[in-house]
Amino acid sequence: MFKQLIILVMISLYFWSTPSFSQTDTIILKKPPKSLAQWYKPENKRQVWLHTMFRLRREMLAMSDYSQKKMPDDLEKWSQKFIKDYKSLAKMVPQWQDYLLLNQLNELQKNVENHNYSAIKPTLKHLSKSCMNCHDDFQTVATLLYRSPNFYDRNISEGFSGEEMAYDDNMMHLSTSVNRINIAIKDGYFDIAGQQIEPLEQHLEHLATSCSDCHQEDEVPVKRIMNASQSLLTELAEQLRLKEQKQSGRKLGEFAVKVCAKCHSIHKLPSDLQLLFD
Ligand code: HEC
Ligand code: HEC
Ligand code: HEC
Repeated sequence: MFKQLIILVMISLYFWSTPSFSQTDTIILKKPPKSLAQWYKPENKRQVWLHTMFRLRREMLAMSDYSQKKMPDDLEKWSQKFIKDYKSLAKMVPQWQDYLLLNQLNELQKNVENHNYSAIKPTLKHLSKSCMNCHDDFQTVATLLYRSPNFYDRNISEGFSGEEMAYDDNMMHLSTSVNRINIAIKDGYFDIAGQQIEPLEQHLEHLATSCSDCHQEDEVPVKRIMNASQSLLTELAEQLRLKEQKQSGRKLGEFAVKVCAKCHSIHKLPSDLQLLFD
């Protein structure tokens, strides 16, 4: 009887809790229209959309400052630039027209021509709401999709097998290798752990050559990670030779943080997030 009661309570708890979980734990993100891609590399030579955005911010600031200082010529110059750039958004991504307050542009132009400075501030404020509305819906996702490198369909020209290999397969091998060293250290098999170091070094060197697909070979970030890997693995080998269990474990941990985790926070996380949109 008591057992049945407990089961009943558990079942009702399950049904009671499930709907609220599904409601509170869901995030809905909107995907930008495909037409945005043509304003970014590789479809375009430049990051046209992004640079239009930088100009809009500059133009808003210039208009605000010059209207406050009551400097009509400069105000006129910057408002013309702004109107042109703001209108260009509708042409670049027609699907986003509804976000734009194009009728406010006439208002702005009229106030600039009439030197009606006090009316400009509210118009700019109004216009900046249109910036925010679109940013709330799309800015983060657009940055992720169009300006972060992805790795999920990338290969390493000479991976673990000695041949071209998918990035994630290569990563699984690296992970296996690091874990085997970890297990051997924990169980006191220092020689076995030591034998794994050289091949791991070689695989990291191959990984490093793949960085130059995007980075210059002598670039600081790649150097930092790869130099750390070389020196830490050398120090680890020395600790293994001395059969220092605690120090070996620490060195391996330091290696995993400075080499694997550092790169993951920069390159794996955005790449994984992009996959959610595929
Ligand atoms: C219809 C949509 C839309 C409108 C309207 C819009 N933006 Fe943007 N904006 C974006 C998107 C999408 C991004 C992300 C671009 C990226 O990261 O490459 C962005 C990014 C930006 C950035 C770059 C932020 C950064 O440093 O990474 C600035 C600055 C900016 N917008 C200014 C403005 C201003 C000012 C306005 C209004 C006058 C405006 N935007 C209106 C869509 C819009
Ligand atoms: C470029 C810098 C970089 C370095 C250095 C790096 N990784 Fe990765 N790692 C990635 C990226 C990017 C992915 C995601 C690959 C994908 O999506 O196909 C990844 C994925 C992984 C995965 C998941 C694989 C899967 O199939 O889900 C593991 C495990 C992993 N890495 C382990 C390691 C270990 C262990 C090291 C250190 C010895 C390391 N990585 C060093 C960038 C790096
Ligand atoms: C698909 C292209 C691509 C590949 C491959 C790639 N990166 Fe990057 N990486 C970038 C981009 C883009 C940035 C951001 C802009 C920049 O700093 O150059 C970046 C930034 C970084 C940064 C942060 C910038 C800094 O100054 O700290 C690090 C660290 C880094 N990469 C390490 C690596 C390592 C290590 C590899 C190879 C194992 C690698 N990357 C492979 C594209 C790539």
